[in-house]
Amino acid sequence: MLRKSIAVFLAFLAICPASLGWGHEGHQIIATVAEDHLDETTKVMIQSLLGNNHLYSIASWADDIRRERRETAPWHYVDIPLGGRYDARRDCAPPESCVVLKINEFLRVLTDKNATRDQRAEALKFVVHFVGDIHQPLHAVKEAKGGNGVHVRFLGNDKCGWYECNLHGVWDTSMILHAGLNRPEYSQHLEALISGEKLTGSDSGTPEQWANDSQQLAAAAWVPDGANLDDQYCQREIKIVDMQMALAGLRLARLLNDSIGKMTPRDFANTPQSYTPTQAASSPAPSTQSANSASVVKVWVNPRSMVYHCPGTQWYGTTKNGEYMAEDDARKKGYHPAGGRECR
Ligand code: ADE
Ligand code: ZN
Ligand code: ZN
Repeated sequence: MLRKSIAVFLAFLAICPASLGWGHEGHQIIATVAEDHLDETTKVMIQSLLGNNHLYSIASWADDIRRERRETAPWHYVDIPLGGRYDARRDCAPPESCVVLKINEFLRVLTDKNATRDQRAEALKFVVHFVGDIHQPLHAVKEAKGGNGVHVRFLGNDKCGWYECNLHGVWDTSMILHAGLNRPEYSQHLEALISGEKLTGSDSGTPEQWANDSQQLAAAAWVPDGANLDDQYCQREIKIVDMQMALAGLRLARLLNDSIGKMTPRDFANTPQSYTPTQAASSPAPSTQSANSASVVKVWVNPRSMVYHCPGTQWYGTTKNGEYMAEDDARKKGYHPAGGRECR
């Protein structure tokens, strides 16, 4: 019995770091930063696509579906030769394409009034993920599959979680995990960096420029096969990781504010599919959050009729008089749901 409990405990210890989400942390942190910088209208539009799911909860969806949808694998990176510059014909040719073109492509779907709600929701999930990927320096390098083939030791260890350490994985996850912060703590740490360095994300960069910047950072951080990435390396390069994640969050927020944030709810109301709150999301909001998320649903209230409308319905944001309001607040102020049905 005791032996069995020890075995279970040891198995738990071994699984634990992996179950924290290898590869997921960076994407979730970036999405959290982005969410903090979204305009109100952008938030309403996102809610109409994702229901009450936070942006961070869908940030790794593109990695989760990579196996079933093999054609999407090359969309996560761009293979620029070390020391070179992005060349669309060489680095992003069809049929594989690459992360630079996919960001632009999915931004177009996101704002396409003829696209279905499902197509837009999927486009949003790809954009959130790929803006993160393009800021990971090794995702913009051709050599050794972006450093996946460069074996390294990290702080004296051969193993990074379950796997042999490689340069790419150290940048994807090991340095982030080594910081020992959870998602809210890490995003706060990046917010401090953003205000300290006065970062804005409104630097009018394009995915092509972001890829070139990433490639340059990767060239500076490149090491030969068999290198030991020591504490000095980690302390120096975690600053680059942090800066890149902060910029990715800010730039993602700007892309969304400048695209769906400029659309009207009518554009969404007209999409062919009918709306159900969690239909488009990869995972429904946990039930423990329901008390919270109830107040998150923004409805459109019409003070003339004292009726309110749910996201995605015909009159959402379209009546002559009205404003957005949390559903709970609308109820408290005496508004009634159109058709007698609550939104949540
Ligand atoms: N596979 C090939 N090149 C890659 C890169 N730069 N990043 C991730 N995976 C890759
Ligand atoms: Zn990815
Ligand atoms: Zn990666």
